Amino acid sequence: MESKQNRVNFGSKIGAILAAAGSAVGLGNIWRFPYETGNHGGAAFILIYLCCVAFMGLPIMMAEFTVGRRSRANTAGAYKVLAPGTPWRGVGYMGVLAGFLILSYYSVVAGWTLEYTWQSLANGFAGMSSGDYTQFFADFSANPWRSVLWMAVFMFMTHWVIIKGVKEGIEKSSKIMMPMLFIFIVVLAVCSIMLPNSEKGLEFLLKPDFSKVTPSAFLAAMGQAFFSLSLGLGCLSTYASYFSKDANLSKTAMSVGVIDTLVAITAGLIIFPAAFSVGVSPDAGPSLLFITLPNVFQMAFGGVPILAYIFSLMFYVLLALAAFTSTISMHEVVTAFVNEDWKVPRKKAACYVTLFCTVLGVLSALSFGVLADVKIFGLTFFEFLDTITSKVMLPLGAMLVSIFVGWYLDRRIVWDEISNEGSLKVPFFKVYIFILRYFAPIAIALIFIKEMGLW
Ligand code: PFF
Repeated sequence: MESKQNRVNFGSKIGAILAAAGSAVGLGNIWRFPYETGNHGGAAFILIYLCCVAFMGLPIMMAEFTVGRRSRANTAGAYKVLAPGTPWRGVGYMGVLAGFLILSYYSVVAGWTLEYTWQSLANGFAGMSSGDYTQFFADFSANPWRSVLWMAVFMFMTHWVIIKGVKEGIEKSSKIMMPMLFIFIVVLAVCSIMLPNSEKGLEFLLKPDFSKVTPSAFLAAMGQAFFSLSLGLGCLSTYASYFSKDANLSKTAMSVGVIDTLVAITAGLIIFPAAFSVGVSPDAGPSLLFITLPNVFQMAFGGVPILAYIFSLMFYVLLALAAFTSTISMHEVVTAFVNEDWKVPRKKAACYVTLFCTVLGVLSALSFGVLADVKIFGLTFFEFLDTITSKVMLPLGAMLVSIFVGWYLDRRIVWDEISNEGSLKVPFFKVYIFILRYFAPIAIALIFIKEMGLW
């Protein structure tokens, strides 16, 4: 195991920002954000979401960065370094477990993006009628071989980057994939906005209708912000353990938050103008991306088949890229833990993580087909993993890290990390501490109670 002093770092500030932004930008932005926005009335939901990112997401991200960079350890090791002999290490263990579980089911949806990329490449969506898309998705996701195969392919791609290491694998791949992703997303948004009748989609996205602001929209926005910013499982604290001493934590958090939010809104600018342009309802829910959109693309560009082909291919490649930089970050949380805590060499640790996650991923993939009737608390295996992680473990993890940095950690340490030992001005320090101590834990407790159905 590397000692604290010669532990590997990201090679550059931009590399560190792109890696953390790569973790944040994922299926949460391009798949989950548009359907949550569609379900909660568009622009009003986006406004609440922006407040959640600014007033809770960013401070909690800075808290995770503080824990990671100060301890220079994986998320479980971090609490052992900063709060030795206390139960706080349980927060780290919960994060590792959450990373492991999310990776296993997230890879299933990530695998779908490969199937859809493949179909787009082979022009398999051309000439389908709207019912065919529903059938295609149902057949594909229930097919035990295809969905398991794509999930395993995705897991091995992730494994490959992880074994290359932090600098050569994670940082290098983020530096290539993130700019590609930005180019794709802007080109697609411009094409979508130029479609006839796209104004209605823009209006839906940009003109708030406050009559839609219900408590449930507020709570959905907070949950979405945590998932989208990768908060609550120590993912960003693991990445921050590779930040250099002079990285500016608040600026980095700001950059990641801005990139993540811009990508989510631009994804909306791709999806809603195209959907409205062909008269498709924006509130199709989770199936929006895999059933509604291929149809939308064919209809919207139907007159020019080559455009439909290029648009669809670029969109699913974009989705796969976004998912890839996120699965890498989840894998790293668990691999760094097995490597440093259990003292297993990094490559071997990565093999174990890949192997066990693939086994669990097979169960998740099969829960759309042969295991559809196997239920845990009335949920399929996939739904169960999604529910316990995003609705229980992430909010709980985010709340605990907020309390840890706000109440437990010595104020001097928190100040030193945020101000780089006094060399940076931090005029918002008091507000930051207030949010970590009171605002964030109370607000999260409310989501948590609501999501558990206790309120
Ligand atoms: N932020 C990712 C997304 O928006 O898809 C999902 C995610 C990645 C959640 C890493 C948690 C995590 F640790």
